[in-house]
This record gives sequence, C-alpha cells and structure tokens, in this order.
Amino acid sequence: MSAAAPDVARLKALVGEAALAYVPPGSVVGVGTGSTVNAFIDALARAKHVIAGAVSSSQASSERLRGHGIPVIDANDVETLQVYIDGADEIDASGCMIKGGGAALTREKIVADLAQRFVCIADGSKLVDVLGRFPLPVEVIPMAAAQVARRFVALGGRPALRAGVVTDNGGQILDVHGLAITDPAALEAEINQWPGVVSVGIFARNRANVCLLGTAAGVRTLT
Ligand code: 5RP
Repeated sequence: MSAAAPDVARLKALVGEAALAYVPPGSVVGVGTGSTVNAFIDALARAKHVIAGAVSSSQASSERLRGHGIPVIDANDVETLQVYIDGADEIDASGCMIKGGGAALTREKIVADLAQRFVCIADGSKLVDVLGRFPLPVEVIPMAAAQVARRFVALGGRPALRAGVVTDNGGQILDVHGLAITDPAALEAEINQWPGVVSVGIFARNRANVCLLGTAAGVRTLT
C-alpha cells in the first residue's frame, strides 16, 4: 500500500463506530454481515448494556455478537426493528446497493425488510454512479443454477458459480459480471420472478435510508 492510500480497515472502523449514533437505546438492532459490520459489532459491544439484543443476518455475525455477550434474537420473534446496520459492495447516490459479496444476501434482505431504517456503512470506494462493476451475487437453489445462469447470459451478463460456497440456507451463489444496472428496482423485480432464485443482491426495494461513508476526511453522511 502506498503512503497516500487510505487505510481501508481504519475507514471501516470509523463508520462502524459512527453507526452507534443510529442505535436507539433499548432497541433490538438489525445487524448485517461483513468486515465493516464486524467493526460495528465490536463498537456495539461497548454499548451492549443499552440495547435489548440483535437480530443477525448470518451465522458469522451471530457468533461474533454472542462472543461479545450480545443476545441474538430470532427474526421470527420481532415484529419490526427500528434500525438495520449493514455494509455494501456498491452503493449509488439514491441508496440502491449491490450486496452479497459475503454470500449472506438472503438473510440480509430478510432483516432489512423488518427494519424501519437501513443505515449502510462502507468505505468511500463503494460509492458508484451506476451499479454493476462489482459482480452481482444471486443466491439460487442448486437445481436451478444452470437455467438461471442462461437467463443472465440472455441479458448480456457473464455468470460464474462461486466455487465451494454453500450459503447459510443451503443455496449456491452465482456472481454475474458485466451488468450495467441502470434501473436497479426494475432488474431486482425481474430477477425475483425467475424460478429457483432465492434472492438477488440488488437492494433497491430495501435500499439504504442513510449511508455513512468512510473517507480520508472523515465520515461523509448521505441521506
Ligand atoms: C455480505 C455483504 C456485505 O455487506 C458486503 O459484502 C460488504 O462487505 P465488507 O464490509 O466486508 O466490504 O453483503 O453478504
């Protein structure tokens, strides 16, 4: 890394810490997955006595939360969450995201859907004009992988099965390269209709309401 390059781990720690301000005292917090969220969980550990617990989006986050002594609550045992904190692989200026780089997109979308407010935390490199440079993750039922892949080829994409990955739900991940996602909501709705798709890593319907971006100049807040 050059001397001028931003220290990405430091930027993730910065936004992980900043997200604490969005956690209402006494609430159950929705918690995402990934290295940026790990920084948030570590910050949350210091505030664990002021929250009631967390609904987690992956086994990995559940283990980290429990490791800090934070109670993990089943998603079926809450009606709503005031806030969901999660990272992103890409985010645009309207809060639409690509997620699923960590293969947790399905549970992330379930927890996001429970939440009244989605706070995205990311380092500044994740902000893009048009989604799609990051390969789009799609969780599929294994039996449907080849057919869903053919549908993406018909759209001009280049799907690749993520080798050796089985999701927390027993699904497989297709990473689709080469899509320029100019209408995230429309593409999300279309892909959601394909048989065998468990979920697509476009978060347009469940877009972020707030984004805390870590930059060399500090936390930049997008609303
Ligand atoms: C996991 C995700 C993550 O939020 C996304 O991959 C970002 O991860 P990181 O914070 O490690 O950059 O969607 O499925």
